[in-house]
Amino acid sequence: MNLLQGKTAIITGGARGIGKAIALKFASEGANIAITDLIYDDNVKAFEAELNAMGIKAKAYASNAAKFDETQTVVNQIIADFGRVDILINNAGITKDGLLMRMTEEQWDAVINVNLKSAFNFTKAVQMQMLKQKGGAIVNMSSVVGVSGNAGQANYSASKAGMIGFTKSVAKELGSRNIRSNAIAPGFIITDMTHKLTEEQRNAWIENIPLKRGGTPEDVANVALFLASDLSSYVNGQVINVCGGMNT
Ligand code: NAI
Repeated sequence: MNLLQGKTAIITGGARGIGKAIALKFASEGANIAITDLIYDDNVKAFEAELNAMGIKAKAYASNAAKFDETQTVVNQIIADFGRVDILINNAGITKDGLLMRMTEEQWDAVINVNLKSAFNFTKAVQMQMLKQKGGAIVNMSSVVGVSGNAGQANYSASKAGMIGFTKSVAKELGSRNIRSNAIAPGFIITDMTHKLTEEQRNAWIENIPLKRGGTPEDVANVALFLASDLSSYVNGQVINVCGGMNT
């Protein structure tokens, strides 16, 4: 299938994990790919080459998604390089966990800025181009804990709840211009982010998942493909959980 043939997708935090899986999936459906990430090393260059070898155009950009001006600059560069932007995946994210009692202002600000402000930065930066093109699809990476809350993750949960409000507001603002905005709320997905957890924490998550396994980045990428493609042309302002039926 070529569900994204001729489209250009920006994927933030695309160097590894879920973002990388989305880049691969979209490339396999014919999309041209612009990856932005803090990381720009030999692994990213090799990934860029791997994507280009799939017969699409791909380019990786070093950029801090939490920075407003830097985001404007990188998006302008992407538009100059690719000529268009059809899909934006706001995926960059970090955790800086700790009980509220011990959480520092730095931990709070860093997580809110990388996880939530980044979506504002990128959506603002692509909006004019999508308006000119008379359409677009935006997919924001939330989390099940944005709905349920989680002890030790007040900053992270707040940022992911914020993503849901942001998604729904943008859906209402830009829907009439054929720009759709939806969110994915992954549960427990096996990536570098969850490798940071202890064995005990990991088992506690899996215990609570009816499918009795963590999800793969590809499980999330499949839903991102649905939301980015015309398969979901009448889906707007929604949050889709990808969590194995976890009790949230
Ligand atoms: P990851 O840690 O494997 O990858 C995140 C990527 O974002 C990395 O390449 C990192 O360099 C990049 N990044 C971090 N800060 C950045 C910044 N300031 N600017 C640009 N790029 C930056 O994490 P994973 O698991 O792939 O997560 C992707 C998204 O999915 C995140 O938003 C995360 O919160 C969300 N998510 C992940 C879940 C999981 O279980 N792994 C569950 C729910 C949501």
